Amino acid sequence: MSSISNNPLANKAQAWSALFSEPMSDLVKRYTSSVFFDKRMWAADIQGSLAHAEMLHAQGILNAEDHAAIERGMAQIKSEIEAGQFEWKLDLEDVHLNIEARLTELVGLAGKRLHTGRSRNDQVATDVRLWLRGEIDELQALLSALQLALIEVAEKNAEVILPGFTHLQVAQPVAFGHHLLAYVEMFARDAERMADVRRRVNRLPLGAAALAGTSYPLDRERVAKTLGMEAVCQNSLDAVSDRDFAIEFSAAASLVMVHISRLSEELILWMSQSFGFIDLADRFCTGSSIMPQKKNPDVPELARGKTGRVVGHLMGLITLMKGQPLAYNKDNQEDKEPLFDTVDTLKDTLRIFAEMMGGLTVKPEAMERAALKGYATATDLADYLVKKGLAFRDAHEIVAHAVKTAIGTGLDLSALPLAELQKFDARIGEDVFEVLSLRGSLNARNILGGTAPAQVRAQVARHRARLG
Ligand code: ARG
Repeated sequence: MSSISNNPLANKAQAWSALFSEPMSDLVKRYTSSVFFDKRMWAADIQGSLAHAEMLHAQGILNAEDHAAIERGMAQIKSEIEAGQFEWKLDLEDVHLNIEARLTELVGLAGKRLHTGRSRNDQVATDVRLWLRGEIDELQALLSALQLALIEVAEKNAEVILPGFTHLQVAQPVAFGHHLLAYVEMFARDAERMADVRRRVNRLPLGAAALAGTSYPLDRERVAKTLGMEAVCQNSLDAVSDRDFAIEFSAAASLVMVHISRLSEELILWMSQSFGFIDLADRFCTGSSIMPQKKNPDVPELARGKTGRVVGHLMGLITLMKGQPLAYNKDNQEDKEPLFDTVDTLKDTLRIFAEMMGGLTVKPEAMERAALKGYATATDLADYLVKKGLAFRDAHEIVAHAVKTAIGTGLDLSALPLAELQKFDARIGEDVFEVLSLRGSLNARNILGGTAPAQVRAQVARHRARLG
């Protein structure tokens, strides 16, 4: 019963019908097959098939004996795949036909009955969704771990002063911890986006069959429940053909990488000799084969580079969809490699970043020295004059003159003698020096969302509570 010759799926030319009178060339086989990449969805494929079989049995379409045989066969296939003993065949095109063929080899007729009321079109759409749902859950854990690593460094550096930049020109002092928490906000929004995408990924196409639905009395709600899916796709044509869920996942993934890339750019700048703000642990860097002194921030550089790759996959997926008439087209087989690579790249990157941030060496003196160089407290002097009764625009003008003079002497505003400062405005008093200090500037910004160390600590506590 279970010999290869009885199996219509044993040979691809016979996999769909006896209609075909000539075999496929090897080139066409290779071109059209997806098994060597889509086999990674095997667990989702088996899970989907088992839920379908269970429902077929509950609906009286499949008898108990056949149902049991399918369960037995699938259990064996699972252990064969896990043991690396499953023989994947190019001739059988994809993961779906490979598993079904092996099932029929193992349990005979019952295996041939599994595909009742189902098409590979609704099967593959279901598999991709199940697989992606699991990956999103893993990504969420990794996003949390990275946030926690950043929060830890932020907490330790709540008091450390960094020159805040706009236009990459020194602007105002900020706490290094505050700067890192900006990334925590970004990754928190990324996690929200992923959770939102997951709701739309987690819907069931099975039952749509090839494109029009099926005449068998399937219970789609039951299959959805078995698979832990939140809803059933309500239009069969849409269910088998759209890959918008993969596209929006890819867009959310691209944003994660864009955030990683911005952080990377900063780490690279900060580690350069010109900044000297931080050091990355040696294990995240490489040397040069010619320049013995070199230690290069390879990991953030590569992450910045890989961002292009993930954004490229988004372009690939969205372009794949445009111009496809309803319903399923083979074009959609091309959704897998970009999706797989996006997930792999994202997982590796998040993992490595969580580790790397944990091993960051911060150099507070260098940061503070840099903050002292760029008249970072000029705004504080203007605010001081406003408190003494000047209009802000007038105060701004007066401080610009003071800065110009200070640049001429090469001194920071806080290093000018009081008498010198009073030449710009007689209302300036001894209390100005606290205002002109970096620490005074930092502490003054004690407003929700501001950089004062007290605010940084409050945000650290909020994030910790949020992440559990
Ligand atoms: N390997 C195909 C894919 O990835 C499975 C669906 C094929 N369906 C079909 N009618 N050829 O999309």
